[in-house]
Amino acid sequence: MIKIYIVDKSNLKPCNNDLVYCVVGENSSLKMREKALKIYNQILSSDLSKEVNIYNQIKKSNLYTIFVESILLLNYKFEKYKSKKSSILKITYQNPELINKSMIEGVFIARDLVNEPLSFLTADQLAKEIKKYSKKSFFKLETLSEKKIKDLEMGGVLSVNKGSVNPSNFNILTYKHPNSKSSKPIILVGKGVMYDTGGLSLKPTANSMDMMKCDMAGAAAVVGAIYAIAKMKINVSLIGLIPAVENRPGGNAYVPGDVVKMMNGSTVEVLNTDAEGRMILADALHYAKRFNPKLVIDLATLTGSAARAVGKYGIAAMGNASNETIKILEDAGLNINERIALQPFWEEYSLELESDIADLKNIGSAEAGHITAGKFLEHFTKEKEKSAYPWIHLDIAGVAYLKKPYFLSQKGGTGAGVRLLCEFIKNYK
Ligand code: BES
Ligand code: ZN
Ligand code: ZN
Repeated sequence: MIKIYIVDKSNLKPCNNDLVYCVVGENSSLKMREKALKIYNQILSSDLSKEVNIYNQIKKSNLYTIFVESILLLNYKFEKYKSKKSSILKITYQNPELINKSMIEGVFIARDLVNEPLSFLTADQLAKEIKKYSKKSFFKLETLSEKKIKDLEMGGVLSVNKGSVNPSNFNILTYKHPNSKSSKPIILVGKGVMYDTGGLSLKPTANSMDMMKCDMAGAAAVVGAIYAIAKMKINVSLIGLIPAVENRPGGNAYVPGDVVKMMNGSTVEVLNTDAEGRMILADALHYAKRFNPKLVIDLATLTGSAARAVGKYGIAAMGNASNETIKILEDAGLNINERIALQPFWEEYSLELESDIADLKNIGSAEAGHITAGKFLEHFTKEKEKSAYPWIHLDIAGVAYLKKPYFLSQKGGTGAGVRLLCEFIKNYK
C-alpha cells in the first residue's frame, strides 16, 4: 500500500518510508495537477504496490480536491477489447465528500464512447448507450428514428447519412431539476458523426481517417456532462441534442455539387462531403429554437483548422453570446484546465460561404476554416436574419483525441468538454 499525504509545507515531515509520498500543498491548481501527474507516473512505472491511499492534511481543501481528481482522471484505460488487461491503480481517499465522483464518471463515459470503434458504436448503439446512462442518472432520453427525421425534413442529417447502410437518429436528452420550473433551458448540441470517412471527398488513412471514430466526441461530451450534472442534481434545466450519422461513400452517398434543403428551408451547395459536421449541426441548431433556450452551446470535432490553430492545448470558441457568458466559460476553463481560445468572428468570414446556385455553400476558402465553419453554423441559429438565442460554438477537434498521453489524459478519447460544461453550468445556471 502506498500512502500519499497532502500536507502544507509547514507540516512537512521527512518521508523516510519508501511507500509514503508527501505532497506539499502547492499554492496553484496547475502545480497541484502537475504534481499529481508526476506521482501517478512514478507509481505506475515502479514495481511498488498498486494500491494507493490518499490522506488530506491540508488547510486549503480545494487543492486536495484537485490532487485527488487529477489522480482519478489519470487512472483510466480502455481495455474492453484486450484479452490481457494491464493494471491501473486501486485508489482510496479521505474526505470523499470533497471529490466530485459524478464528474469523473461523466468524463469516463465520454472517453469510453469516443474509444469505442464503429464496429460497436453505430448511431443505434449510441442511443442504447445513452438510454443505459439515463437510467443510472436522472435524465430522460427520446430518440427520433430516421423516419421521424424525414418527417421533420432534416435535410442536413439525412444527406450526410445517405452513403451509410445504418440509419441515422436524433437524440434528445432532458434533465430538469424540480425547482427550475420556469427557467428556460440551456441546450447542449453534440456532433455525433459515428465515423467520418470524409464520404466521397474521402480522407486519406494515415493520421486522418484512422482516428475518425472520434468524430462523435462532441456527442460524447454532451452525454457525459448531462449524466454528471443530473447526478449532481444541479438546479438547472438542460437539453441535449445529438444528431447521429455515419459519413460514408456508399452507393447513394451525397456528392460534391449536390444541393441540400435543410430543415430551416435554406439550401446548401455541398462542395465537400467531408464538411459534414456542420450539415448535421445546422439542423440541430435550427431544431433548438423550439425550446426557446436561454443559451445554446454546441461541441464538435468540426475542423482540422481548429486543431491547427490551437493544438491540443485548448478549445477554439466563437459565437454571439454576451461577454459575461463568455467570461464565465473562460473562467470555468481556466479553473478546471480545459481552456477556451476565443476566435475572431467577423462578418467577412461569412461572405466566403456565398454560393452561385444555393443560399450558401458548405465550405469557405483555405484560410480560417474553423471560423467559416462557425459562420455556417451561425446561419442556422438565426430566425429572420436575427439570432434566435445566445450561442457558443466549441470546436474540440484539437483536444478530443490524443495519439499519445498528454497531461491528465491517456491516449485516445480525452472526455474534453465534460468538466468544462459541469464547471460552467454550476457557475452560470
Ligand atoms: N471530422 C473532421 C474534423 C477533424 C479533424 C476532427 C481532425 C478531428 C480531428 C471534419 O468533419 C472535417 O473533415 N473537416 C474538414 C472540413 C473541410 C473539408 C472544409 C477539415 O477540417 O479538413
Ligand atoms: Zn469530415
Ligand atoms: Zn467530421
